[in-house]
Amino acid sequence: MKLDVGNVTSHPLKSWSKIPTPAANLVQMQWDLENSVQSHIRNEQYWNDKGHTPIPTTLFESHSNIWLEIGAGTGGYFLELAKTNPKSHFVAIERCRIRARRMIHKFEKSELPNLQGFRGNAVPALITGIPSESVERIYILYPCPWPKNAHRKNRWYLHVVMPHLVRILKPQGTLIWASDQEFYIREATFVSESKHRLKTLISGQITPNSFNHLESFPEGRTSFEKKFLTSNQPCFELVSQKSGFPTQNTLS
Ligand SMILES: C[S@@+](CC[C@H](N)C(=O)[O-])C[C@H]1O[C@@H](n2cnc3c(N)ncnc32)[C@H](O)[C@@H]1O
Repeated sequence: MKLDVGNVTSHPLKSWSKIPTPAANLVQMQWDLENSVQSHIRNEQYWNDKGHTPIPTTLFESHSNIWLEIGAGTGGYFLELAKTNPKSHFVAIERCRIRARRMIHKFEKSELPNLQGFRGNAVPALITGIPSESVERIYILYPCPWPKNAHRKNRWYLHVVMPHLVRILKPQGTLIWASDQEFYIREATFVSESKHRLKTLISGQITPNSFNHLESFPEGRTSFEKKFLTSNQPCFELVSQKSGFPTQNTLS
């Protein structure tokens, strides 16, 4: 697959001047994918030794049809989905103390039995706490794009958790991303296809579909999406699907 990072859109709030050109980016990304192994092993070892997961592992044994949102902010999207999809179980995790407190308060107030929010770091949860093939859908909406080249290893698709995102998905499960940064979605598409053998169902500028429920959220699903859409900032999405057959493990 060829990587084309397209025209990097300007961000209304910050200047992302450090994003490499498409050609430099391709070379760099291939290097990243080939050379990330050792740092991923060290990172995994660290979290395994710590042995902490903010989401109890038992949750995944007692529910099928789990949808997981990573970096859920104040949780408004999953709150609405849980009301209208009683057969699915919605689990959201948010690291920021203030946002997580608001999310958990909202979820508890709703008294919905199919909605749970956790405050904590998604990284140890993904590495040590979530069983393989236990999640139907994963949403990562408007993550920090880490636009500076030196920080690119923090982009979720280059991070040690990426193989775990694939591992925890059920066969035919979907990994759903949204970003205001076109380069982020293009790179995520490239890595998902070339490294993790995920099938791209949708990749490009965001339009209403059954994975994003935008028809029910015309102003946006999350706080960040609302800000971007109301200021006419284009938003982009990727929907990737895991194979229906047993996949080769891409953990490295
Ligand atoms: C840019 S905000 C987007 C929030 C929300 N998804 C939205 O669209 O409004 C990214 C969120 O991811 C959270 N986050 C970043 N790294 C995380 C991690 N390792 N575990 C859990 N949450 C994380 C941040 O605290 C922040 O709230």
